[in-house]
Amino acid sequence: MSFFLFVCAGLAAFLRASPSEGVRKPVTGVLGAMTAEVETLQGQIMDRKELKVQGLPFVTGTLRGRSVVLAKSGVGKVNAAMTVTLMLERFSPEQVVFTGSSGGVNPALKPGDIVIGTKTVQHDHGVFDDAGLHAAETENAVTGSKNPLYFPGDELLIRFAEDAARSLKLEKVETDQGPREPRIAQGVIATGDVFVASGAKGKELRKTLQADAVEMEGAAVAQVCWEQRVPCLVIRSVSDSADEHASKDFPRFLRVASRNSAALVSGIVAKIGKQ
Ligand code: ADE
Repeated sequence: MSFFLFVCAGLAAFLRASPSEGVRKPVTGVLGAMTAEVETLQGQIMDRKELKVQGLPFVTGTLRGRSVVLAKSGVGKVNAAMTVTLMLERFSPEQVVFTGSSGGVNPALKPGDIVIGTKTVQHDHGVFDDAGLHAAETENAVTGSKNPLYFPGDELLIRFAEDAARSLKLEKVETDQGPREPRIAQGVIATGDVFVASGAKGKELRKTLQADAVEMEGAAVAQVCWEQRVPCLVIRSVSDSADEHASKDFPRFLRVASRNSAALVSGIVAKIGKQ
């Protein structure tokens, strides 16, 4: 190879290896499943660059002074796992935060309330016998050993969430009884590939797994991050009560829930940037 070709090949390799999307500084990864769940944060990102990774939409830029990469995963565990894997591979984020809506299975939770996921668990992975489903640990594909049944939310990110929550002004929720001030709680988030619209199923998830909220991506993202040793936190706001009213409540409260979840995630990102 001539010297010229050698230099060109080296330059091409450098350009491929360096994140040409402008994410050179430490970066935080943020994911949400649906457009409604990512659009608020997307609108707040400065120096925004939109790109596709393997056909999936990613946005890079700066949010509250911190470099971020934001992705829309699509709904469900497989889509979420694929998206976060591509994000880790391509952008090497220092931490990952998931934002979005959920069904509240803790009766104390109402639409617009936020759950900081102290733990996430997959409620549809395990053994199904005549007594029903018994959730069991996933296998760690990297080490071959068992993962924990509950993936713990990263402690530092939970602390940032608590700090951010103290000064957060959340949007009030218009209910049949009038406007309601949302609350921020901590709890167990149960993930599975089903939209839960059954009070009986919600009660079962609460009894068997101590779930506070149910959704369709969080624990899948947490599993990938756990296996790849990347700190992760799932933030969810309540759009419905995972009961027989869920299919009607979900479209009614999805937007306000998404905005409230995004507001807390934005606060967390600001705290990460200042650490
Ligand atoms: N996301 C929002 N509401 C949900 C529900 N009821 N079940 C699963 N995922 C949800």
